[in-house]
Amino acid sequence: MAKLWGGRFQKDLTENVEDFLQSVEVDSKMVLEDIWGSQAHAIMLAKQDIIKAKDLKEILLYLDKARADYLSGKFVLDPENEDVHMNVERYLIEGAGADCGGKLHTARSRNDQVITDSKLHIRNKIIDVKEKIIRLQETFLAIAEENTGTAIPGYTHTQDAQPITLGYWATAYVSMLNRDITRLDNAYRNVNTNPLGSAALAGTSFPIDRRMTARLLGFDSVHVHSLDVISSRDFVAETLCALAILMSNLSKLAEEIVYWSTYEFGFLELDDSYTAGSSIMPQKKNPCVAELTRGRTGRVYGSLIQLLTTLKGLPMGYNRDLQEDKPPLWNALEIIEKTLVVTEGMISTMQVKKDRLKQVSGANYNTATELANYLVREKGYSFRKCHEIVGNLVGTLHRQNKLFTDYDITLKLLADAGVEMDEASLKNIVDPEKNVKAYKSLGSTNPKEVKRMVGIFKKDVLKSKAVIKKQNAKTDAAWKKTQDIVAKVLDGKEVKTMKI
Ligand code: ARG
Repeated sequence: MAKLWGGRFQKDLTENVEDFLQSVEVDSKMVLEDIWGSQAHAIMLAKQDIIKAKDLKEILLYLDKARADYLSGKFVLDPENEDVHMNVERYLIEGAGADCGGKLHTARSRNDQVITDSKLHIRNKIIDVKEKIIRLQETFLAIAEENTGTAIPGYTHTQDAQPITLGYWATAYVSMLNRDITRLDNAYRNVNTNPLGSAALAGTSFPIDRRMTARLLGFDSVHVHSLDVISSRDFVAETLCALAILMSNLSKLAEEIVYWSTYEFGFLELDDSYTAGSSIMPQKKNPCVAELTRGRTGRVYGSLIQLLTTLKGLPMGYNRDLQEDKPPLWNALEIIEKTLVVTEGMISTMQVKKDRLKQVSGANYNTATELANYLVREKGYSFRKCHEIVGNLVGTLHRQNKLFTDYDITLKLLADAGVEMDEASLKNIVDPEKNVKAYKSLGSTNPKEVKRMVGIFKKDVLKSKAVIKKQNAKTDAAWKKTQDIVAKVLDGKEVKTMKI
């Protein structure tokens, strides 16, 4: 089949070259976007008197048919037509005839078209990812609310450090995920600008109206510079970067789940439906969801590096290398969306072993810092001196196989070090659930603080949802506006008479 761009060629592509160049499989995610972008462009061309009303009607008729046929599986992208843009245009030309269908590409290039399509696609995907993050945040908030005072060991260097509460741990993840949402929103801002009308690189001599297509496609603004926007894929890199960091964050959670669910830690038991067995060891229940989250993080980082490497050293202007932006993005999006769904399921169904947490909390001198703090306040010594007194105490107790809760010995050793202390005060400090109440600073593990933070994070979740609602409302309204105009034109109304 002759190519739509075939005028200056005397020979066809070899089959291998054709296959090498085509991107229909990758582009198949953007068929509806390509049709919407084409509708907006055609409407604008007619409104600006660049094409005639009767041509617009035909073009919109066949674009509508293309969508219906695509959705019913009748219109399938053909690799011979190279990409989604040429496939849709070919469909149109075959239906409306070359004279009419061939007019759609006036003042447009595949260079601005492909970015338009991917921007329309990516902004929806960003919202899907944000929605899934929010679901995970809500799950953590439910755990936090129930456990503002449940003491658990808090770690540094994966060594028992100070008591914290389970609610404090859970809200840490909510707080972390808030930043992932912020990063995705930042990416969204750079995604949602209108590239259409940049044409190949230099703009066009036709009197197009780029603000009109921005309105019809729900973009926040017209991208300010045509050469810049057709050359740009940093908005893809930015999205991928946000996804890579998100995956890094999820892998942190995954790692904790892996060892917290070991027999030795025993802090939690994963639900059967979120684990896998062993083919040889009948007793095994493996945290494979968490492990593959950790493992697939490499694939998402790989996607980011893949894109950045593709972009490195590309000069201004469209270069075919840019076609390679989508596979890594699609890959990362697919992994992230699946990971978020199963992670939320894993966390919401896991069983926290409170007895075990009680047993280990405070059993390893992790209240020592607070004991030193007490001595600072009560005795007026320097913190460094108190650190040494308590360090000596822990060392001696440890050598004698004793704990702070061996109160008589602890009090005696303290007295030997010149510190008189009553048993009630000691008990108050070395009991982890009481210990955490001593914390006073903003953002600390004190149950009251955790409760306060839960309140703040609940509001943040509501705000994130409101942003999504606004983003969706804008794109939905633009979609509806375009489709309303299409329906009216097909009904015989002229765009010249419409307010667009
Ligand atoms: N399939 C191409 C891509 O994804 C579309 C743009 C082609 N532009 C061109 N000048 N050949 O980047």
